[in-house]
Amino acid sequence: SGEEQRPIEEEMTPHVLMFPFPIQGHMPPMLKLAELLSNVGLYVTFVNTEYSHRRFMHHSSALARLEQRPCFRFRTIPDGLPEDDPRPALHFMVIEESLRTRSRESYRELLTPTIGQDPDGWPPVSCVIADAVLPLALDVAEEVGIHVLIFRTGGACSFWAFHCIPELVKVGVLPFPEDANLDEIVSSVPGMEGFLRRRDLPSFCRDVKSSDNIFRLLKTVTTNAARAEAFIINTFESLEAPMLSHVRSLCPITYAVGPLHTFVKTSIPQNELDSSTNSVNMWEEDCDCIRWLDMKLDKSVVYVSFGSIAVLSREELMEFWQGLVDSGKQFLWVVRPDLVAGGSGEKDTIPEDIEEGTRQRGCIVGWAPQDEVLAHPAVGCFLTHSGWNSTLESVTRGVPMICWPFFTDQQVNSRFVSAVWKIGVDMKDKIGRSIVAETINNVMDGEGEELRRSTVEMAEAARISVEKGGSSYIDFLKLVQHIKSFCR
Ligand code: UDX
Repeated sequence: SGEEQRPIEEEMTPHVLMFPFPIQGHMPPMLKLAELLSNVGLYVTFVNTEYSHRRFMHHSSALARLEQRPCFRFRTIPDGLPEDDPRPALHFMVIEESLRTRSRESYRELLTPTIGQDPDGWPPVSCVIADAVLPLALDVAEEVGIHVLIFRTGGACSFWAFHCIPELVKVGVLPFPEDANLDEIVSSVPGMEGFLRRRDLPSFCRDVKSSDNIFRLLKTVTTNAARAEAFIINTFESLEAPMLSHVRSLCPITYAVGPLHTFVKTSIPQNELDSSTNSVNMWEEDCDCIRWLDMKLDKSVVYVSFGSIAVLSREELMEFWQGLVDSGKQFLWVVRPDLVAGGSGEKDTIPEDIEEGTRQRGCIVGWAPQDEVLAHPAVGCFLTHSGWNSTLESVTRGVPMICWPFFTDQQVNSRFVSAVWKIGVDMKDKIGRSIVAETINNVMDGEGEELRRSTVEMAEAARISVEKGGSSYIDFLKLVQHIKSFCR
């Protein structure tokens, strides 16, 4: 309509400050949203920690391109950790605490420049879009009286499960009794009564006391979302409508704007860029694997990646490898430099016997251009840790999944993939070469066709949701209106 195309008058232009949690999984969706907001003419200040900014800048050209826009800028603040700390994302609690206790002042200065005037002549920050797992971003903005919207990188299903955990403690479902049967159904999470088993609850429910920090942080995620003026989530109605309606009972103004990585040139008025911000990485992408895929038959390759945080024991790594080899299928496997627990973090992570045995049938890379891989016709299924970004990427490329969740939201995500959306199988808590090989063969040859059909249908629904008139498209425009209302 004409309404959405009207240029914004200069004196009313809102200025959005965005602050993601400084790890791989949180940067691309928030940067993509920032790009979209910039496309519709808003000023965007994007806050990174010095460390994460250096790494993302080094490995992703998208940041430099965005920075050339006149109304887009990055600002960095220290995270308070020692220079030589490798900051593995698995230590996100340490990163969170350091930011909260040591970076408050630097962040506050970005919100309220002391000189009284913005160095670039921009208007003052009209609202903050804060990562849901970064309480600091919300707390300080509230202190200085700036509007706050909360952004959640994960899905509605895990968000709702997180929200219900205190209630599970209250009714005695948690903590689990000793020798608990993990297959028992948990009937007290509204909307998940029939299919959620104990083992599908977030991993920390198994052995963490309700007083522990992670438990408190995840509680903050949902309480902060409810406290903010609006909640933004990277999912879409056709995938998660029932869960979104539960989320809206807690956060009445919820904008479901996902899958963000699929918003392209034509989606949003005045969008000048295509999906160039999709390739935003903390590691160097190894693009040779695309040429390797080019030589393979359609749907003949298993793509394996456990995301950016998960770590495997050496035994687990070997069981996966042997299972992949035993499956008889071709495989492309991402073995991150820090994938193996206790490894040196260097490339020697890959035992030589694996490298040798792989040459026949596989390709191992340190980091892949994942979206391009999933879009490649040679890929037949995705053995994944069920991180939310990976799940959405697999869905939008119509690739069925084999799920081997590692922690937090991934247990819930994988249950939805298998039991609700029926676009993959859940191998959680199982490890061993034979189960790996068997599951791969089942998904590549047996059940695979049916799973693929459902996944392709969901991919189509995702595509429609971000196109003009789609649910995520409409929610994005509503979000823009909401932000503009702060300047009236
Ligand atoms: C975790 C959670 O599981 C996720 O749900 C949460 O919101 C963020 O933290 P992570 O381990 O980072 O996530 O997994 P995922 O959410 O799947 O994100 C990984 C990202 O890295 C994906 O966007 C994926 O495309 C990218 N990736 C991964 C690559 O680009 N190349 C690789 O080789 C591996």
